[in-house]
Amino acid sequence: MAKFKRNLITTALPYANGPVHIGHLAGVYVPADIYVRYLRQKGEEVVFIGGSDEHGVPITIKAQKEGVTPQDIVDRYHQIIKDSFEEFGISFDIYSRTSSKTHHELSSAFFKKLYDEGKFIEKTSMQFYDEKAGQFLADRYIVGKCPHCGNERAYGDQCEACGTSLNATDLIDPVSAVTGNKPELKETKHWYLPLDRYEDWLKEWILEGHKEWKSNVYGQSWLDNGLQPRAVTRDLDWGVPVPLDEAKGKVLYVWFDAPIGYISATKDLTPEWEKYWKDPETRMIHFIGKDNIVFHCIIFPAMLKAEGSYILPDNVPANEFLNLEGDKISTSRNWAVWLNEYLVDMPGKQDVLRYVLTANAPETKDNDFTCKDFQARNNNELVAILGNFVNRALVLTEKYFEGKVPAAGELTDYDRQTLTDFANVKADVERLLDTYHFRDAQKEAMNLARIGNKYLADTEPWKLAKTDMARVATIMNIALQITANLAIAFEPFLPFSMEKLNKMLNVEPLGWNRLGSTDLLEAGHQLGKSELLFEKIEDSVIEAQVQKLLDTKKAN
Ligand code: MF3
Ligand code: ZN
Repeated sequence: MAKFKRNLITTALPYANGPVHIGHLAGVYVPADIYVRYLRQKGEEVVFIGGSDEHGVPITIKAQKEGVTPQDIVDRYHQIIKDSFEEFGISFDIYSRTSSKTHHELSSAFFKKLYDEGKFIEKTSMQFYDEKAGQFLADRYIVGKCPHCGNERAYGDQCEACGTSLNATDLIDPVSAVTGNKPELKETKHWYLPLDRYEDWLKEWILEGHKEWKSNVYGQSWLDNGLQPRAVTRDLDWGVPVPLDEAKGKVLYVWFDAPIGYISATKDLTPEWEKYWKDPETRMIHFIGKDNIVFHCIIFPAMLKAEGSYILPDNVPANEFLNLEGDKISTSRNWAVWLNEYLVDMPGKQDVLRYVLTANAPETKDNDFTCKDFQARNNNELVAILGNFVNRALVLTEKYFEGKVPAAGELTDYDRQTLTDFANVKADVERLLDTYHFRDAQKEAMNLARIGNKYLADTEPWKLAKTDMARVATIMNIALQITANLAIAFEPFLPFSMEKLNKMLNVEPLGWNRLGSTDLLEAGHQLGKSELLFEKIEDSVIEAQVQKLLDTKKAN
C-alpha cells in the first residue's frame, strides 16, 4: 500500500427515484464508510465521494407514474437519500448530484473529447419504438426475458438477476414498459464505445494486473463472451444533452454520465480535484453492488482509458445482495426496510442497524436480513457482550475509585495473558479491513469485548473489593484499558456509540495506531459519567416490525 499517497473512495450513486433501504446500506455504504473511517483513523489522506444518480429511465418512469416532472422526482429523493446517509453516519466528504452544472459540463466535455479524438463509432440502426407512447424504448423502457438466465423481467440494458449487461435487441419477447405493447422498430443514429478495441487491454489489466480482486468481480463471464460496441447515447429527453449539432433530442446514456459523476463530485468538493483523479499515487476504490460490476470493471475503465488522463481503480469491492425475510428486496413491491422509516420506528438505533448489516453482510453470497436476527444480535451481542462489559468496567470504577483510573500494581500471569490476547486484535482487524472483510473484522473487534467480559468474570473484582483493593485496582485498570481499546476498534463500525464511549471515558478519539496499547488511560485520569451504550429490544417491538412486513406482503 505504500506506493499510494492518498485514497479516493467512491460509492455507487443511487438512483434518486426512491428512498434508500437496508440493501443499499449493507451492500455499499456501510462497508465503504467503515473503510473510510478506518483510513482516517490511521491518519491517511482520504476523500469519500457519493451522490445521487439523477438521470436515466429509472427517473423518468417514476415521474410518469406519478404524473410529475423528472426534476420533481430527483429533487424530492435526492434530499431524502442525502438525509438518510447523514443520519446513518455515512461520512461522505461530499454528497453530490448528477443534475449539477459541474456534472453536466464535465460529462459533456468528456464525451466531446472522445468524439473529437475519434474514439466512438457512429451507427444508424433499427431500435425499439412504442408507436402509442411516441417514444423510443431505451433501457428500462423495454423488458423481456434474459437470454442468459431466463429472468422474465430483464431490462433493455441489463439483467439485474444475473448481472449481465444487455443490448435491447438481445431480449426475448420484449414489450414496452410504458404501454405493455409489442414494440415496433424505427431507425435512429447513436454513438458507440467500441469495447471490443479495449478487450485485450482489459483482460490484461484485470486478469493479470488485479488477481487480488474478489472472485465475484474477477470471475464474471463477459470477458470470456467477448465485448461488443456499446451505445453511449439515447433517444430520451432527460439527461445530459449530447453535445453535437446532429444529435438534437438525444442525451448521454445514464451509465456513461453517472460514473463521471464521481469526478464531478470531486471537482465540486475541491479545486484540487485533479490530484485525486490524475495522479497515479492516488488509490481509487469503487464500492458497489453486484449489479454494477460490469459498469465499474469494464465500461467505466474503458471510458477512462479512452479519455487517457485519468487513473483507474485499484480495487472494486462488490457485494452480493441482501434479502429481507427470505425474499428479494424490491422497490416496486415495497419489499424493503426503508432507512427513513427505520429512523422513525427505531429512533437512535443507527449503530444497531450498522452492526447487524455488517455482521450479516452479503460479502461472498446473498444473505438474509430477518427481524429476529436483528433482535438477537442486538440483545445477545451489542447489549450482552459489548455494552455489558463497558458498563461493568465504568460502573465498578465509579463505585470503587470515584471514576478515576486506578494504577495497576503487580500483574499476574493471567493479567499478562489477557494483555497479549488483546494486543493481537489490532493485527487481525487490520488484515481483515485491508482486504475488505468487514464482517470478520467486526467479529474480531467483538472478540476484544469477549476477552474483557471473560476477564471480569474470571477475576471477580466485586468479590475482592471486600479484601484486596490493590488487586481490584489492577483489574480495573486492565478492564479500562480494554474499554479504551474498544473505543478505537469499534469506531469504524459503531461511530455514534463510540463517540458516546469516548465521552464516558473523557478522552478525544485515540487514533488507530494506538490500538493494542495497554496504557491508553493514565492512572488518575478522571472518567466521565457512564451511560448504557445499548438497550435490549423487546419482543413487542420486533413483533410490530414483523407485522408491518406481513401487511406489505398482503398488500402485494
Ligand atoms: N444508479 C446506479 C444504480 O443504482 C448506480 C450508478 S453508479 C455510477 O444501480 F457509477 F454510475 F455512479
Ligand atoms: Zn439474466
